[in-house]
Amino acid sequence: MPPPTPPLARQLRDATREAHRALDHHPALQRLLAARLTREDYAASLLALYPAHAALETAVCEEIERLGLGLEMPRRLARLADDLGSLGLTPQAAAVNALYPPGSVATLVGRLYVLEGSRLGGRVIAERLRRTLGPEVPHAFFSLDMAPGEWLRRLAELEALCPHDDRDAAEAGAHEAFARFRYHLDTRFQLLQPHG
Ligand code: HEM
Repeated sequence: MPPPTPPLARQLRDATREAHRALDHHPALQRLLAARLTREDYAASLLALYPAHAALETAVCEEIERLGLGLEMPRRLARLADDLGSLGLTPQAAAVNALYPPGSVATLVGRLYVLEGSRLGGRVIAERLRRTLGPEVPHAFFSLDMAPGEWLRRLAELEALCPHDDRDAAEAGAHEAFARFRYHLDTRFQLLQPHG
């Protein structure tokens, strides 16, 4: 039997269920799963994802360093840039004034939950991309998915970093990460639309 989900993870999942639903229904992401996806639409979705992912991954990695935590973090930003490069495009980072402010360890725990959780949908998306756009489509970003055991280990790590009294601060960090991710995705995606 798999180990039970740690209490912090249950709290974060319950608190952000709606935010996740709204994000995975975002047109930039929903169309990655559509049977009629074109290479141009895929490229535009990757361009829109870049600043959202860049801001979150950069903040998490810098905070791990600043707070002196010895956490291993798989980085996916270079993969996203490589995929875009293979499609003939150059990514643009997020506006500096919309980046994440420094926070506490609990804030980082919430942000890290969102960043690492975002790998969980990768396998489904990568499989779909291969089917709709062919096996040669560059999709290194979505291919670094997460095995169930790896996710449980990560959740246990977050639990150990976050004392009971700090769980609400971690929840606030996760909410903030979903909101900022959504903000960056919306902003860049609207600019990329033909009428935008
Ligand atoms: C089309 C896009 C997406 C799809 C299809 C998708 C799909 C999924 C799926 C299937 C799971 C559950 C996996 C499991 O329980 O084993 C999951 C979990 C999760 N996803 Fe997404 N996702 C998408 C986008 C995102 C994005 C953009 C983020 C954050 C920036 C995100 C954050 C999370 C988090 C934090 C979890 C963990 C939830 C939990 O605690 O159980 N997802 N996603």
